[in-house]
Amino acid sequence: MSWDQVWIDVNVATMDTNIQEAYGVIPQAAIAVKDGKIAWVGPRSELPEFDVLATPVYRGKGGWITPGLIDAHTHLVFAGNRANEFEQRLQGATYAEIARAGGGIISTVNACRDADEAELFELGRQRLNALAREGVTTVEIKSGYGLNTETELKLLRVARELGEHHHIDVSTTFLGAHAIPPEYKDNADAYIDLVINDMLPAVIAENLADAVDVFCENIAFNLEQTERVLTAAKQAGLQIKLHAEQLTNMGGSALAAKLGAKSVDHIEFLDEAGVKAISESGTCATLLPGAFYFLRETQLPPIDLLRQYKVPMVIASDFNPGSSPICSTLLMLNMACTLFRLTPEEALQGVTINAAKALGIDNNVGSITVGKQADFCLWDITTPAQLAYAYGVNLCKTVVKNGQVVALPN
Ligand code: NIG
Ligand code: FE
Repeated sequence: MSWDQVWIDVNVATMDTNIQEAYGVIPQAAIAVKDGKIAWVGPRSELPEFDVLATPVYRGKGGWITPGLIDAHTHLVFAGNRANEFEQRLQGATYAEIARAGGGIISTVNACRDADEAELFELGRQRLNALAREGVTTVEIKSGYGLNTETELKLLRVARELGEHHHIDVSTTFLGAHAIPPEYKDNADAYIDLVINDMLPAVIAENLADAVDVFCENIAFNLEQTERVLTAAKQAGLQIKLHAEQLTNMGGSALAAKLGAKSVDHIEFLDEAGVKAISESGTCATLLPGAFYFLRETQLPPIDLLRQYKVPMVIASDFNPGSSPICSTLLMLNMACTLFRLTPEEALQGVTINAAKALGIDNNVGSITVGKQADFCLWDITTPAQLAYAYGVNLCKTVVKNGQVVALPN
């Protein structure tokens, strides 16, 4: 066989659901890469003969290979920080109170309107580097801190540029309907008109977004406004998803399901009817333990119902300056298990194959499967559960992206 690269002396957690073992494990395995794709994976003993002199062979020293991690929900392009609001919350103010008083998302909007593209790019680059060091190879980035056409486009342009300049692949989401900007304080419907008639066409004209999201909540947009935005996005051929049922049960998830959303995200307050609705539409449930932790939520997402209805569970960082200032996908694995009682296998599915489903890219990434992009990580661990169990010492030794060994940033 003629391959570009072969990996041996490894165990592989393929996360391929066609392999019956937990984690889709192939023990004592080998992987061959050709033209940036997985060309062969299986037991080392069955590896076909290849030209050992002409092919680079990497030895994993008995470590584990997983797919590159995918963080399917972040807001990582933003300026400023909200440490002052953290302090206010420690004094007893709630997240919703701060938002109603003109802080919260709006304070980050002010910082982003003032920041130039170069500054936002550099902040975003450092944050992608932090994720890259822990094995992340694909990241979704939302806009939503502009709330006017100019700044929403600026944030999306920066997100696209980050994807072009970094080895991490970036999937972009237009979240113009994230909060009601001060200019439209008492006229959310008119702001939604702007989102649909001005922002969305401009976003589409520059091909800046892969998906469209809305924050459906009593401190943001109601069901009718949400439906208008998602319907316009769908008609334009974009994927749709929704921030739903984070603080209250508004029925956003059922609406998103009806419209064919890829995911509903947060969903602490989702009820059984909502779970049923998303299971029937094949919509993923994106759980965000960082926001649950940082806002000290007590209402748990309906994990048992999600299992019962076989809804694919996604785990993401929701990295943002207000509700989850935690730039780590790996830490989310631990939190998904400790806070939400997911199994380590479910948590790892949430940042690999299910995260790929939520982004609509599971035909290409998310598992170690022949024909998919060769995005994978070598970990210095003895069992895959270690990825969720421990945190703090980076056990990610090597990252392969598109079939190339990546020099990890310092
Ligand atoms: O996913 N819920 C809405 N949006 C973000 C928070 C944004 C912020 O507070 O800046 C979230 O939690
Ligand atoms: Fe979010």
